[in-house]
Parts: sequence; structure tokens; C-alpha cells
Amino acid sequence: MRSVVLHSLLEWYRKAARPLPWRREPRDPYHVVVSEFMLQQTQVDRVAPRFNGFVERFPTFQSLAEASEEEVLTEWSGLGYYRRARMLHEMAGQVARRSGGLPRTFRELQELPGIGPYTAAAVASLAFAAAEPVLDGNVMRVGSRVLALDEDPRSTEGRRRLKVWIRGMMEGQHPGEVNEALMELGATVCTSADPRCGDCPIRGDCAAERSGRQTDYPPPRKRRASESLRWVAACVVESEGSWLLQRVDTGPILRGLWLPPLRELDDEADAASEAVQMLPFSVDSTAIVGTPVRHSITHRRIEVIPVFFENPHLEPPAAGWRWIDPKDPGVPTSSLLQKLIEIRSGCSGYPSSDLATSSMTS
Ligand code: ADE
Repeated sequence: MRSVVLHSLLEWYRKAARPLPWRREPRDPYHVVVSEFMLQQTQVDRVAPRFNGFVERFPTFQSLAEASEEEVLTEWSGLGYYRRARMLHEMAGQVARRSGGLPRTFRELQELPGIGPYTAAAVASLAFAAAEPVLDGNVMRVGSRVLALDEDPRSTEGRRRLKVWIRGMMEGQHPGEVNEALMELGATVCTSADPRCGDCPIRGDCAAERSGRQTDYPPPRKRRASESLRWVAACVVESEGSWLLQRVDTGPILRGLWLPPLRELDDEADAASEAVQMLPFSVDSTAIVGTPVRHSITHRRIEVIPVFFENPHLEPPAAGWRWIDPKDPGVPTSSLLQKLIEIRSGCSGYPSSDLATSSMTS
């Protein structure tokens, strides 16, 4: 890229960048790591309101390492993809025990749990000024357009060409700033459906714009088919509005989170009778089947059928079960709980004063 265009990109970034909480200078490597873990699969808009709370609760690798997994998952609640929180916790333990603390190179960072090439490049460049290009979806789109790249930007050759282009821009500049400027441009100007080329600081070097084919790049991806599942949730609510929750201990998803008992339903099964079987005590109230809620976890699309029971406050039968006030859960949970609470609020048959409202975010 011509240096005049590169300067225009960096100047634009310094003026236009969103003041995201992890962008405060000087960069704290711990903040860079936490934000990059949070951003691995979650949108900036959902991470931004949660970041400060997390680093205030756990201000250093050491304090994060000393927390219990349950405390970490609680602070992570609503961000989804809880495996990342477990990985972050485990990696904090390794960093706290390691002489020299957090490693600084792309190669060594990848030896830590939860850090692949993408996160290693982000941390090495943002925290330690290493010339490592970060190829996220936004950067790939910007690069595909500027270079009019015919390959899939995720392919080996596509990546190689994008990295050469970005490394060229990093010479004599702060590599982290180049990476973030490209991410920001892709997130706010060079968007996928409707790029605002009139506002683009690197328009003068964009091959796609010159030929008027911006939205032809990058070429469409072949999608992985998503799996559809049907679950039933047995939602027992007592008169004060507390919900009976169970910690998910098995299975590939939601592990460690507190939710109403869940079970997969096959086509033949009756939701209400399956729900009764999951309860830890017998209930004498009528089961009310609510409107199904949709919940997506990685590539799974799940339809969750809620079955509601009103019940007096009986002792939870064992560890792994608790009555939880949904306004202040105090345990790690998922946004699925919030969706079930909302469905109950809309169910007929409940007096409105009896309904649990929730202030939980996502
Ligand atoms: N996505 C991943 N890392 C990011 C960052 N540092 N800023 C904005 N979006 C990001």
C-alpha cells in the first residue's frame, strides 16, 4: 500500500476508533488477553459492556488464577461459549505459575490453553508490538477487497497473500495499531453488505472499488450445515419467584452452568411427561407447556420447549440443585434462562404479580 494511503488509514483510526474499554493506553497485556478471549466468538457490542466488570473483579492473571471456576463462569454469564472462560481460567493459572509471566512471542503464546494462531497474533501485536497480522473476518473482507482477492481469504493461499499485504503496512508502524485499524475499518466502514466507500481512508488503493465490485469480495463461503435439536426444559418456580436450577455436569455444551433441567426430545416424546421425569421431587401442580424458545449454541440450533410447574419451596434434594432468584442468580447461567423467564411472563394462567422479572443481561 502506498505510504500516503497507509497514513490516511492510521490517521482515520486515531480519530474514528470507537473508545472500547480494552483500548485504553498504555495497553495492559492482561486486558488484551481477556478482551481477545471474550471477542473470540462474541460481538464487540456484547463484550464492551461486560469487559470492565470482569477485569475489576479479576484485575490480574494471579487473581483470576486464584478464583474458582464457578466464580469465573458467573462473571462470564451471558457471554456464551463458556469453554473459553474455562480456558482463560486455566491459562491464567499457567501464566501465574510461569516464571516471566505471560510469554511475548507468537509461538510461545500458542502453547497456552485457549490461544490459537488468531489470539496469539492479536496478543503479540497489541501487547508486544510483534509484526503478526490478525486475520479476523473484518480484516479478511477489507483485504479481499483492496487486493481484489479471488481466492477464499481463509484458504492457505488467501491467508498468505493477506499476511504479506498487512506485514508490508506494519513496517515502521505499531503492528497492533495497523491490525486494529483494519479491524475497525471492516467493522464500521467496509461492511459486508453496504460498504461506505465514500468514507474510506484507503479507497485510493482499493482494487474492488476501482472496478465497482466491492460486494463481490470476498467470494461466498460454503456453509457448514447446522444441526437442529429439540429440548424440553422443566421449569419449577416457587411462590417467591425462585427457579429450581440444576448444574449441567455432562455433555459437550452448557457444562458448569445452572439451568432448569434439560433433556433432548425425540419426535415421539411428550414434553410434559419427559419434564416430570426430570424433576427431583414429585409435583402436584399442573404442567403448563409454554411457547418454544430458540437458542443457538455454536452450530446447533435448539428449540427448547418450556414446561412450567408451580411448586412450594421444597428442599433441593442434592448438591447440584438449587433454588435461584433469577434477578440475582449468583451462579453461572446462560441467556437461555432469561428466554425461559420471558416466556413464562407471557404465559396465560399466571397472575402478573407472581412473575419473576429479571435484570440479567443477555
Ligand atoms: N476483535 C478481536 N480483537 C479485537 C479488537 N482488539 N478490537 C476490535 N475488535 C476485535
